[in-house]
Amino acid sequence: MPQAKKIFSEKILEWYTAHRRDLPWRNTKDPYKVWVSEIILQQTRVDQGLPYYKKFIKAFPNVKALANAKQQEVLRLWQGLGYYSRARNMHRCAGQVAYLHQGKFPRQAEALKKLSGIGDYTAAAISSICFGEPAAVVDGNVYRVLSRIFGITAPINSVAGKKEFREIADQLIPQKFPGDYNQAVMEFGALHCTPRNPGCDHCPFSRVCIAKTQSLQDVLPVKIAAAPKRERYFHYLLLEKSGKIWMKKRDAGDIWHGLYDFLLIESDKKLSEKTLKIRMGQHFNLSGSPKLIQAFTHILTHQKLHTSFYHLIDSAEFKGTEKQTGKYFSRNEIKKLPKPVFIDKILDLLH
Ligand code: ADE
Repeated sequence: MPQAKKIFSEKILEWYTAHRRDLPWRNTKDPYKVWVSEIILQQTRVDQGLPYYKKFIKAFPNVKALANAKQQEVLRLWQGLGYYSRARNMHRCAGQVAYLHQGKFPRQAEALKKLSGIGDYTAAAISSICFGEPAAVVDGNVYRVLSRIFGITAPINSVAGKKEFREIADQLIPQKFPGDYNQAVMEFGALHCTPRNPGCDHCPFSRVCIAKTQSLQDVLPVKIAAAPKRERYFHYLLLEKSGKIWMKKRDAGDIWHGLYDFLLIESDKKLSEKTLKIRMGQHFNLSGSPKLIQAFTHILTHQKLHTSFYHLIDSAEFKGTEKQTGKYFSRNEIKKLPKPVFIDKILDLLH
């Protein structure tokens, strides 16, 4: 292993030097900026994450600025990235760094992990990139690269598999340039050793890579089939009154906590328009004929949302209920609210 380890890190660093993308967070060792980039990159690919990173750093150039922001502003900038608890945790973490650590991120992975929203991955990324600690990152790219080159067949989403990959990654990380090394493996996975059509014909590892030599590129990494997604049926009512639309802030304990959406009738199967009208009357004392605007399926990590959107002019004084309290907002007010991205798309269809 020691020899193989040295060759692996040297070759991957060589590849990285030649192929690395020039990205704003690679020209700094400011842990705040590296942290922001790594949290965003857990959510999306580099090309999609870049504009978010720029917006974020412009709005909140340092950890104190983020700590002092309103949660709503943070959610608004995160809009479209999904998994909004990450944004809320980031905000919380900024407060911890700004006020419990005098504005300075801890240097060691173990200490970083005590902060909100910082797990093994982010702690290793920050401590290696900014402070030179040999802490190995393990993300989807790393799983793919290691499983293919070293022929690791343990499923990446099993407890035993995660442990095996973690042990190998910890053995491989070099003392010298651990931050560049970590980024090199991820970059190699993102650009070269891609899920489909990897660049095996011009790969620095082509002679030793188990996947290449045994034609297992489509087999590795192994993943066990995920549990079926929970199916939910969302019937949204766009209640309109004097050009304004009724919206509410979503509660804790469900998706999109803190974001705004419309009046919602949820069920475990699709409701016919007739049933929907009955429910509208029962739940909200609303009458009238809702008009279907659009329907689509929205896929999240563990859920499949069958959403349909209905337009309804409110002729009575709609008040909401105990669970769904909200108010009428003008279009300009809605622009400033944090909300799931499809809300804007539906509003654009409305008039
Ligand atoms: N994916 C997430 N973080 C990354 C980084 N720093 N370099 C390359 N790919 C990444």
